[in-house]
Amino acid sequence: MLNIKAPAKINLHLAVKGRRPDGFHDLESIFLALDWGDSLCFDCGGAEAQCAIQTTWDIPIDGAVIQPEENIVFKAVSLFRERSGFMQGLRIRLAKRIPLGAGLGGGSSDAAATLLALNRLSGAELPLAALRELAEDLGSDVPFFLSGGAAFVSGRGERIEPLVVPEGLSVVLVYPGFVSNTRLAFALLDADSHERRASWSREELIQALGGKPADWPYHNDFLPVFLAAGMEVYGDLLGELRRLGADFAALSGSGSTCFGIFSDERAASRAVETFRGCEGFIKTVVKPLTLGMGI
Ligand code: C5P
Repeated sequence: MLNIKAPAKINLHLAVKGRRPDGFHDLESIFLALDWGDSLCFDCGGAEAQCAIQTTWDIPIDGAVIQPEENIVFKAVSLFRERSGFMQGLRIRLAKRIPLGAGLGGGSSDAAATLLALNRLSGAELPLAALRELAEDLGSDVPFFLSGGAAFVSGRGERIEPLVVPEGLSVVLVYPGFVSNTRLAFALLDADSHERRASWSREELIQALGGKPADWPYHNDFLPVFLAAGMEVYGDLLGELRRLGADFAALSGSGSTCFGIFSDERAASRAVETFRGCEGFIKTVVKPLTLGMGI
């Protein structure tokens, strides 16, 4: 039996550069893994080449259900088997805490955790480069979760430069109870004729992470597009997080989660208390995950 955590992530910064010939977009982003997320438990057993996934939902909202065969974990198992020849039957228990379509990388993290776990469990010991190739096939955010921590991420999501995880910060996550579709979010951004905000250079972005969150020059290119489309909820949530003492507040990924970065841990806890009354919301205080992806 093997247990593994699948942490959530936030994007401290997310600049969308341009649409590529393959339909994806080049990004420049700062990812931060959190000490909070899903967990998976792997057991060998059952018929050869079979894989049974049992999911428990620790998410207080309706409708968040994925059929086992549509689960990205199932796809990760299939790809790993093709590459490694590992065919033993598998029983996987997945405890979901990260909501779907939340910009927190839940599915991507589950997929990366599956690759790491199977690499250990099977004894195949594929090199990291091989796991990265599988991760890229599974989704743009999956390669990041093979290493986690903090990283400057570019390309489609496959170029990852590890950064020092900032210390002493509390993160308040506010998931507003609705799903954001990444593909549609990119389409909305492509259709937007406004000039994109000029981004800082890679060096400046990386250097800023060592400074105070209140001074971070980070932004998320999806936010103005969503606001222009009438999604005022994001403006309201970010304003509320700042009012409650966040040194920095932003949208994660292509939504829908907003987060606040607090230097004052007690202010972060008070902020969560303030949001508690909002039905259908998930709000929690978490810490950045300083360690690599351990099993
Ligand atoms: O790779 P992933 O499956 O997470 O991407 C979901 C969708 O988001 C893609 O089909 C694409 O429309 C969009 N996307 C993009 N550029 C990226 C990542 C995602 O256009 N770098």
